[in-house]
Amino acid sequence: MTDLLLGQVLRFTADPFVAGPVAAVVDEAVVINAGQIVAVGSANALRRSHPQARVTDYGRALISAGFVDAHAHYPQTAIIASWGKRLIDWLNTYTFPEEMRFSNLSYASAVANRHLDLTVSNGTTSVCSYCTIHPESVDAFFAAAAARNQRVWAGKTCMDRNAPEGLRDTAQTAHDDSARLLAKWHGRGRASYVITPRFSPTSTEAQLEALGALWAANSGCLMQTHLSEQTDEIAWVRQLFPDARDYLDTYERHGLLGRGALFGHAIWLEDREKARILEADASLIHCPTSNTFIGSGLFDMGGLKAAGHRIGLATDTGGGSSFSMLRTMAAAYEVAQLRDRALHPAELWWLATTGSARALHADSLIGNITVGAEADLVVVNLASTPAIAQATARANDIWQAVFPTIMMGDDRAIRATWVAGHCVHDNDPAKPASQTPPAPGPA
Ligand code: GUN
Ligand code: ZN
Repeated sequence: MTDLLLGQVLRFTADPFVAGPVAAVVDEAVVINAGQIVAVGSANALRRSHPQARVTDYGRALISAGFVDAHAHYPQTAIIASWGKRLIDWLNTYTFPEEMRFSNLSYASAVANRHLDLTVSNGTTSVCSYCTIHPESVDAFFAAAAARNQRVWAGKTCMDRNAPEGLRDTAQTAHDDSARLLAKWHGRGRASYVITPRFSPTSTEAQLEALGALWAANSGCLMQTHLSEQTDEIAWVRQLFPDARDYLDTYERHGLLGRGALFGHAIWLEDREKARILEADASLIHCPTSNTFIGSGLFDMGGLKAAGHRIGLATDTGGGSSFSMLRTMAAAYEVAQLRDRALHPAELWWLATTGSARALHADSLIGNITVGAEADLVVVNLASTPAIAQATARANDIWQAVFPTIMMGDDRAIRATWVAGHCVHDNDPAKPASQTPPAPGPA
């Protein structure tokens, strides 16, 4: 089946932080076949060249690459919006007790499916998630994503100290479990395994060393962890690693800095850390709703992008307070404003799609509407509430029309979500709600 989708088709020809908003182009139609984008262009031309295609006309809705959430904790789905704590207290009070439950495969499967339901209904087609220390939590997430044919990244979260009994592994079991899960899932269908030490405070040097060795032996994988999120955390890292030059060095000295490393938060970086991350071409993942919700600080998007850093955008649920990448873009805008940089809507949209895909080294596959890319798409209603509609009615160009949805939109703005060429979420009030998920792709 070939599908021809009509709407305002948004694609990027370059990074708008470098080229400006002209890097975004609006076409009228996109053609998808066998899970891939096969043509983009004018409606008349594509109707003529694909006369057999099934046509879905989304009117004035925006058709974009699906959102890519570059850092999430699916096991924290149920504890999102838990009140009143900062990072270390929040982990001990809310996160660790909940993560204990993921030794149970059926509980883990239920939450993984709920997380993917929630993200797809928010237009997110790919997620890079932490799991828990339990291998069951990894199997549950990858199996849920495979059943939906979603491109996802995930890994077993490793911790061998400063976590409660029942939520600790060892250097050896972290290495061996991760190696086994990596062999089982990496490259299977649309799954990618990510080596995942939680953060330096919950790993001994021996564990970081073992995971560094595992990464060296599997350099095609990504590695994800947390870096410099809160000042109290940084002070604690200094006590735990008295010989380290800085927080980054606790990873660097164990082989955990390089191309394909993803550092979540990265708010309080020192000059040496910024220089080494840039030199290594590692990725920084901005988690703005989490950084304001847990009270972490203001990420320097303007400065870090101007310096050439590879940066993705993420919800960080459940430290982050929303499953919506629209809400996440709004928070990124507000945080940047507090650092005297007004991010253009083209920059925000790029971060939530191509930027995140680029941070995950997957921008040749997802994150943009280009011929040959995988057909993961979001269709966004730019007048989804009365408040947004009345603001958008005054718009003189595409970005004035999009910005009210960035700032005020939520899952009501998601008209449809397409994964691998199938519509998996259809929010058309005129249609019955039932949707059949796509068949899994080839293993
Ligand atoms: N640092 C270590 N673990 C976590 C986590 O689960 N969430 C956040 N926001 N920061 C962390
Ligand atoms: Zn996180």
